[in-house]
Amino acid sequence: MLAELFLDASRACEARSPLTHTLLVSAAADLARGGVTARVMAGAECDRHGTVPGLRFAGALHRLVLEGRAPELAEHYPTAGGEPRLDTLWDAALTVLHEHTDELRTLVTTTVVQTNEPGRSAPLFGGLQTATHLAAAEAGRRATFPVRLLEVGASGGLNLRPHRIAYRVDGTTLGDPGSPFTLDPGWTGRPPVDLTHPLRLVRRAGCDLDPVDVSTEDGRLHLSSFVWADQVARFERLQAAVALARLDPVPVRQATGPEWLAGQLARPERDVLTVVWHSVVWQYASPADRAMGRAILADAAARATPKAPLALLVFEPRRTHTAGRYEFRLLLKLWPAGLSLRLGTGVGHGIPFTWDTQPWD
Ligand SMILES: C[S@@+](CC[C@H](N)C(=O)[O-])C[C@H]1O[C@@H](n2cnc3c(N)ncnc32)[C@H](O)[C@@H]1O
Repeated sequence: MLAELFLDASRACEARSPLTHTLLVSAAADLARGGVTARVMAGAECDRHGTVPGLRFAGALHRLVLEGRAPELAEHYPTAGGEPRLDTLWDAALTVLHEHTDELRTLVTTTVVQTNEPGRSAPLFGGLQTATHLAAAEAGRRATFPVRLLEVGASGGLNLRPHRIAYRVDGTTLGDPGSPFTLDPGWTGRPPVDLTHPLRLVRRAGCDLDPVDVSTEDGRLHLSSFVWADQVARFERLQAAVALARLDPVPVRQATGPEWLAGQLARPERDVLTVVWHSVVWQYASPADRAMGRAILADAAARATPKAPLALLVFEPRRTHTAGRYEFRLLLKLWPAGLSLRLGTGVGHGIPFTWDTQPWD
């Protein structure tokens, strides 16, 4: 059963991470013959598919590599300066599995898979610019609204500073040109507003069921360990986002989305645009949380006014007509204007992204 879950996880990363794919296929075979992987995974035999035991196993090994404690495996890990040799990868992994069996078992049984993708800040930046311009036009204001950003399922909160990133677009820099964190957002098309206008975020807050404190080394390693070790650009993006987060900390509260949102939205705030944002969270929320989240938002939307507008901005996957494929859509709802727009589509990590504003039913 566990071996099957490892194989499932290996199929999901086959095209994008040959290293993780090879590791998980070899580990599945080792599990089936009762090798050392079975001792590392002891206690996780009945874990649910959704807890992705294979990725927890790969993450635990990656963490030891990043801590500099598995030098033979590090030689295969690009995130540690190595180069993968897939034919000898498993032999190197076996050495580490035998040497650190107990510690790896503790890591696997005590961690949940936790990702935070800062590439999603790019569609968020364009989406916020669009929302502030549209809300100002609806309210008959010349100046755009400052923003109160509320993120549900924020993980380590790495997407809570979209205005502090330098975005390289068409040879110019949008956002914060002095930022230590630079993104090439890979945009086709553009949001239909003036992107050079400064985006002001006057309040930011986030919640998560399992928040990660990126101000700590443990938090940084935790998020880093779940980036596939042959995806160096993504890994570096994460490190840059963590460095920025340490310069500009925003705490992420431990809470379920609806409970937290109800408190945040209890009173409308005048002269700011309140934006509720979530990315790649909806699929993990329980049906009860989804229903409650919708009700809380509908209640807040009914209380929104032109001077205290409310927006919902989401970046979530939707199955396409092509079998088994997903596209990630950026959707915007604005109250009291009653606007409902699909701003564009992209891939899961937010880069590249195509802007194409259409009505959203
Ligand atoms: C795939 S991660 C995405 C994290 C982040 N939004 C991003 O785009 O990088 C999904 C996150 O949602 C959180 N989550 C899932 N259900 C939740 C709920 N009901 N309330 C709050 N957070 C939740 C998880 O703990 C996890 O951190």
